[in-house]
Amino acid sequence: MKRLLLISALLAGNVLAEDTRQLATLPLPAQESLRVEMIDNLVRLNEILELMAAGKVKEAGVLAESSLGESAMGKHRSKPLDARPGPHMPPAMHGIGMDGHKAASAFAKVAATGDRDQAISLLPNLTAACVGCHAAYRTR
Ligand code: HEC
Repeated sequence: MKRLLLISALLAGNVLAEDTRQLATLPLPAQESLRVEMIDNLVRLNEILELMAAGKVKEAGVLAESSLGESAMGKHRSKPLDARPGPHMPPAMHGIGMDGHKAASAFAKVAATGDRDQAISLLPNLTAACVGCHAAYRTR
């Protein structure tokens, strides 16, 4: 029984080791910009969830718009081209990123009305962009 568990653990490891996601070749400085943005994304997403859980719906909307929404687009515009992630992404990958910004803004708009239930129903559209991009693309 123990051995069976070990074998299935090893098999699961093999499946994970085989990364079938599409490689997006971003220059190293662009990867670095993206990584910094991503770490912040996860922190902001968690803050938005905390605000929603506390019933602070409008505050969650304001944070979503400024940190993840369309207002947060173009952060890297003033950087040299090789440090800007967007222009080096395959168009479909870039599109998922745009969808994520739009989903955050759509959530923010509804959250601004204070309608908690409707705002919650829009949150999975936002996380779907995170999941969709990570499931389809890698940078290394
Ligand atoms: C358009 C594609 C795309 C979208 C959308 C996206 N990510 Fe990422 N994310 C990436 C890529 C590519 C990396 C790997 C960056 C690297 O290290 O080169 C990454 C890495 C990360 C990491 C790991 C950072 C580290 O510690 O190295 C976190 C956390 C993360 N993303 C969170 C999020 C969250 C949360 C969202 C949604 C709000 C999101 N991402 C949306 C493409 C995306």
